[in-house]
Amino acid sequence: MKSPIQSYLETLHRQLAALRGGEVASYIPELTKANPDWFGICLVTVDGVAYSVGDAAQPFTIQSISKPFVYATALADRGLAYVSQRVGVEPSGDAFNSISLHPKSGAPLNPMINAGAIASASMVAGQDATRQWARIAESLGVFMGHDVALDDAVYRSESETGFRNRAIAWMLKNFGIIADEPMAALENYFRQCSVLVDCRDLAFMAATLANGGIHPATGQRALPPEDVERVLSVMATCGMYDYAGSWLYEVGMPAKSGVGGGIIAVLPGRFGIGVFSPPLDEKGNSVRGIEVCKRLSHDFGLHVF
Ligand code: DON
Repeated sequence: MKSPIQSYLETLHRQLAALRGGEVASYIPELTKANPDWFGICLVTVDGVAYSVGDAAQPFTIQSISKPFVYATALADRGLAYVSQRVGVEPSGDAFNSISLHPKSGAPLNPMINAGAIASASMVAGQDATRQWARIAESLGVFMGHDVALDDAVYRSESETGFRNRAIAWMLKNFGIIADEPMAALENYFRQCSVLVDCRDLAFMAATLANGGIHPATGQRALPPEDVERVLSVMATCGMYDYAGSWLYEVGMPAKSGVGGGIIAVLPGRFGIGVFSPPLDEKGNSVRGIEVCKRLSHDFGLHVF
């Protein structure tokens, strides 16, 4: 017999598949190839049970959803004192690509905006950028439960057109936030955004955070518990950029979105969810993704407050 959660998700998927509105991201040329009808949901409980519906196995690029996990890696590798001197934890209330640096220190306001994410990528362990990329890929792989693969076309497309991010990386170098060669750190950031995932991967990554840092299926520890708390805190306050306040008010779960159309949300101690639907609203968040999380939160009373 079908579980009540599976039936609920199937009904929700059927209803929200009819929802129109939003535009597929176009500022990275390669992303325009996404099909606006793709729509998948996967929910993974902390004991490792996965419920999937729709295009949950359709691969797409993780984009900004990589940011909390690379920030987590920097925290685990360098410790709080080092990282907190270089990236803050204040919501900017600004768009994902805003410059938002502290006026005196030049530290990005938080690790979820691009500036903070590029700084985080520059801080993971490794003697040079090649080894730092290996560390990022290894860490994302532990959260996901398998080795990572890149969408090379998306990586090249972003690297060829990411002039604003290039300017941000040089600003970070100017303030001494990035110690080494900023363009090499930036390429690692572009690579992390191009990692291929499906809804199931995202749900397992979210469920690993819900499960205190241990992957619910592999049993591998991805992150120390004290860093899980820190990562979930910045996801709650900054994960949805200039929609973060409304999101916390209405949905009430730590979350992160990406311009590939993915969203993750975490209910600590219970489950992680990954939703994929490429059309985005004007703030760069998946229209159907937001609606799925709102409905789930409302229907089951999941708001953490
Ligand atoms: O920095 C960028 O432009 C992208 N690679 C990532 C942006 C992103 O996913 C923003 N999130 N909504």
